[in-house]
Amino acid sequence: MQIIKHRSELTPLSTRLRSEGAKIGFVPTMGALHQGHISLVEQSKNRTNITIASIFVNPTQFNDQKDLDKYPKPIEQDIAMLEAAGCDILYLPQADDIYGPITEVTDTFDLGGLDLGLEGASRPGHFAGVAQVVKFLLEITRPDILFLGQKDYQQCLILTQLVGSLQMPVEIAMCPIYREPNGLAMSSRNVRLSADIRQKAGAIYATLQYAVTLIPILSPEEIQQTAIASLNTLANFKVDYFLILNAKNLQPITGQEKVSAILIITAVIVDGVRLLDNIVME
Ligand code: PAF
Repeated sequence: MQIIKHRSELTPLSTRLRSEGAKIGFVPTMGALHQGHISLVEQSKNRTNITIASIFVNPTQFNDQKDLDKYPKPIEQDIAMLEAAGCDILYLPQADDIYGPITEVTDTFDLGGLDLGLEGASRPGHFAGVAQVVKFLLEITRPDILFLGQKDYQQCLILTQLVGSLQMPVEIAMCPIYREPNGLAMSSRNVRLSADIRQKAGAIYATLQYAVTLIPILSPEEIQQTAIASLNTLANFKVDYFLILNAKNLQPITGQEKVSAILIITAVIVDGVRLLDNIVME
């Protein structure tokens, strides 16, 4: 695996490879890699000729300095995992290689209102930071396909809207959530949980699955209330949201319109750690 630290080296390389006929896949990450990230690399290897991954802990998408400070950075282990997965190129920049002299979010993007609810409501400025860094990363890496994990479902919809509105020639592949044996969605934040709490956090996915079974019987509001009450009974669990939405536009389901896919999505703060999960029902 080639490790490249500068866009001045990476962009011409990617452009040359594409002109020679290679299809390029890109897996952006903030490091602290787990099997979920590796599954994105594997999907990229299945569908493209060259896989580029990036590791960059993007400061502009953290609205809480403590969260940024605590973000794990096991870089040697990350490199070894990417090597073992057969990743071809790792882009490992310092902030100034991506941002130049910019230190805060300066661009405004048309995110179609998708950024206002859910994570956007709880983390002001988060998606503006994500959109800006991903736009820069796409300009630097020039991929054919961008691979993203479904765990961050709202992020996937927002980035699809972003590349559409900027008319960037990149396809977005949303890849299934990778889970721990107890069902907990894999996340770089899981290492901050104690073994006991991490085991109990399997309740989040179990509650999503239970909500699926309630869809034909109860209204969205009733299901939401049941799920929130059940998760909040667990010690050190605090539900931020648990919602049943139209998966295409994140709008509430009124029962009046036809919905082709239903999204059940939640964020739960477990022992101070924010955990996200969702299920999409076609
Ligand atoms: O999902 C993430 O890890 C980040 O939001 C991303 C897409 C790498 C941008 O920093």
